[in-house]
Amino acid sequence: MTYGAGMLAGRVMLVTGASSGIGAATARVAARHGAALVLMARRAPRLEELAAELRDKGAEVACSGGDVTRSDDVERAVRLAVDRYGRLDAAFNNAGTTTEPALLHETDDADYDTVLDVNLRGVWLCMKHEIRAMLAAGTGGAIVNNSSIAGVRATSAGAPYVAAKHAVLGLTKAAAAQYAEHGVRVNALATGLTRSEMSESLFARDPAAEERMRRRNPQGRVADPEEVGQVAVWLCSDQASFVTGATMAVDGGAGAW
Ligand SMILES: NC(=O)c1ccc[n+]([C@@H]2O[C@H](COP(=O)([O-])OP(=O)(O)OC[C@H]3O[C@@H](n4cnc5c(N)ncnc54)[C@H](O)[C@@H]3O)[C@@H](O)[C@H]2O)c1
Repeated sequence: MTYGAGMLAGRVMLVTGASSGIGAATARVAARHGAALVLMARRAPRLEELAAELRDKGAEVACSGGDVTRSDDVERAVRLAVDRYGRLDAAFNNAGTTTEPALLHETDDADYDTVLDVNLRGVWLCMKHEIRAMLAAGTGGAIVNNSSIAGVRATSAGAPYVAAKHAVLGLTKAAAAQYAEHGVRVNALATGLTRSEMSESLFARDPAAEERMRRRNPQGRVADPEEVGQVAVWLCSDQASFVTGATMAVDGGAGAW
């Protein structure tokens, strides 16, 4: 495939949590497929490094440092897409976090707040500003929210994370139903264990976890983050024109157990 001539050629896409892991990998896939990008995360220097790498290959990339739990930061990222490229066609709401997993009755209230703020309020704020921009342009759009396998069943990631990721699927379905008539599609990924800073920190805390999780996965492995990005990009493209309100498992079959 010629670089930039793929499924998102001519499209403008926002990727949150783009400074590492699945977000950075998705930005690379989207750039290969021709998207003009706005990258958002808190670590601005990491965003600039990725932007430089992608611009060297010919991609259009703008960066917006910021926190997805802050409405004005999210609004600024969306405005950057509109000011720089004229509109926003697609978004991958991917920024997320975990805290040290604990039994529910031993979980710190502050950890609950952090996990719900980033994983749920963050997605909520992103969708709100993205949909406003899409409605204003009147050209429709596609949004993909990165939930988790923890969005469809309980996992060892802790009750707040499981609750937040389940709630992301609720937001996804509600928005898909509300905005289908405006040509805005909204889908979610039920992502399985994927190599990233998040999974590396889990393996650092619990070295046996990787092997245990590999054994429970039908494909017997952890995903490469680009394998998740490819599905996100496909869902953002016209190839997925009749797909909305869906939860797409990207988990090597783990959810099939
Ligand atoms: N890695 C996995 O096994 C796995 C599995 C299922 C779902 N997920 C989900 O994938 C998403 C990406 O995680 P990852 O695995 O790539 O981990 P990661 O830690 O590499 O990436 C998380 C990204 O989110 C950003 N981020 C965190 N809090 C933020 C905030 N308040 N504002 C803006 N950006 C913020 C981080 O800076 C980083 O860029 C998360 O939503 C996570 O829950 C990951």
